[in-house]
Amino acid sequence: MKHFRTNACNVLIIGSGGAGLRAAIEAHNQGSEVLIIGKRIRNDAHTTLASGGINAVLGSRDPEDNWIQHFVDTYQEGYNIADPKTVEILVKDAPNRIKELDKWGMPFAKTKDGKLDQRFFGAHTYRRTCYAGDYTGRAILNTLIKKVEELKIPIIDLMYVSKLLVDKQGSEKHCFGALAFDIVSGERTVFLADSVVLAAGGHTRIWRRSSSRRDENTGDAIRLALRAGCKLADMEMVQFHPTGMVHPESLAGTLVTEAVRGEGGYLINSKGERYMKNYDPKRLELSTRDRVALANYNEIIEGRGTKNNGVFLDITHIDKDIILEKLPRMYRQFMESQMLDISKSPMEVAPTAHYTMGGVVVDSVKHSTNVKGLYAAGECTSGVHGANRLGGNSLAEILVFGKIAGLQASKFSENLNFQRRNKDVILNANQELDELTSTGEELARPLQRAVRDVMWEFCGVLRSEKGLKKGLSEILKIKKASKNIDVRPSAEGFIDLALAIDLLGSIDSAISTILCAIERKESRGAHQRKDFEKTDENLRVNYLVEMKNGEQKVSSQKVKDLPVELVKPMKNFKDINVDGRLLE
Ligand code: FUM
Repeated sequence: MKHFRTNACNVLIIGSGGAGLRAAIEAHNQGSEVLIIGKRIRNDAHTTLASGGINAVLGSRDPEDNWIQHFVDTYQEGYNIADPKTVEILVKDAPNRIKELDKWGMPFAKTKDGKLDQRFFGAHTYRRTCYAGDYTGRAILNTLIKKVEELKIPIIDLMYVSKLLVDKQGSEKHCFGALAFDIVSGERTVFLADSVVLAAGGHTRIWRRSSSRRDENTGDAIRLALRAGCKLADMEMVQFHPTGMVHPESLAGTLVTEAVRGEGGYLINSKGERYMKNYDPKRLELSTRDRVALANYNEIIEGRGTKNNGVFLDITHIDKDIILEKLPRMYRQFMESQMLDISKSPMEVAPTAHYTMGGVVVDSVKHSTNVKGLYAAGECTSGVHGANRLGGNSLAEILVFGKIAGLQASKFSENLNFQRRNKDVILNANQELDELTSTGEELARPLQRAVRDVMWEFCGVLRSEKGLKKGLSEILKIKKASKNIDVRPSAEGFIDLALAIDLLGSIDSAISTILCAIERKESRGAHQRKDFEKTDENLRVNYLVEMKNGEQKVSSQKVKDLPVELVKPMKNFKDINVDGRLLE
């Protein structure tokens, strides 16, 4: 019998990004002993890359804005397959979460009369995107870290979770913690907890062009949940952001914020045409992300792109002082990487994988999963965005649902009569790590790259059954190769082991994405099929994935009904004219 280093708390938070931190604050405020563990250094979580803003109905600029309109924009532009209750909770609570951040010292941009300023983001009827320049995510993360430190909530960095500990008794599953190892020393710790909040991000790094950095959003949270017995939904719904950098190659895919278009930027093809007039004449560059991404993609593949296979994003008609005030990060990003002054020359951009809109199925009100004691929040969950996410809704999502998950996890702990433990489950998790730490013929990085190439080629902006099936068979070959992977501790520590598990997460999430994409035989939002170009109203369903006998299986369920009080506003929804307001 082996002894393990053990750490016990009431609520264990996995992930030190915005959702995890907000969950931790809430659970702590409820009186729980909380511990946060993250695989990256705390203020370097992916939240730091979110740029352009966070949405809430505050009416600073457009007093006529209201939560029903935010609901309608989000639900309708998500092509009517989101969970309406989840959307309702998001839009009603976002203003509170933003005011709270403001109180905690977040450096939001303010109007001259001291209100929180709000800019336009694509497909929002009103200006409701609050911001801090174009580094909103970083400012939110810093504010939350400061709060967590004030409250003395412990965070352990560089701690990689290999497995959620789940006790299964008949059909009941109960999560009682996680096994993790220190990426530097390799030391393993059994984290025992009354309840766990999973907030460890999405899987968009598994596409060749991605707005995520190396080793983040590799699908690890998706794998942990799937293997714990959770259900996933809408995995085919992956958002391609219309504007990622195209060069240098090492930075290809890096986000060029929608705020560039929100502040008045134009998209231009190599013929000098402002082509969005051909795709969405009314909203132009501020159309929905799926439409703008598809437009950019079309312009490029139909031969009207730039020599680097991009399109131009031009903001040179805007005053340089405004660019420096509102888009300082973009200014620096292009200056440092390309010696390009964006106030003088247009940027080159192309679609990039940006956001996992599907993910773990959670209860809309409690954010609990079908595994007792396991909660989830943020990008790893499904329910809010449907088939197309509106920019700025994700930063709102991590705060609103981070808080709810933290609250509910804490209540669960408080109401627990006895702590669950299961030594066999711990031993098995430990044995899995032993088995992974062995020599082999394959290396994680090249296999990870192979996954990214396959996903880009066969499961990208435009898909087809033939391509998806080919993609699936390629991923299954990589899965086979991953069984012979070389993992050995070195001067770099246990990074090989982390990369190997990242790879397993990438493979699991690639498979669930492709399986759902094959099933959805229509085009809807971010899921565009060459062989099924139209949206099929009979397919207002969510595709679900779960493990059955060691394999991922897909099923479908009808989307949830709209709450009665929202049926009429949805019917009355009409486009509101935004002409003239975009450049105010
Ligand atoms: O373009 C952006 O700034 C991204 C925002 C978002 O994805 O919400």
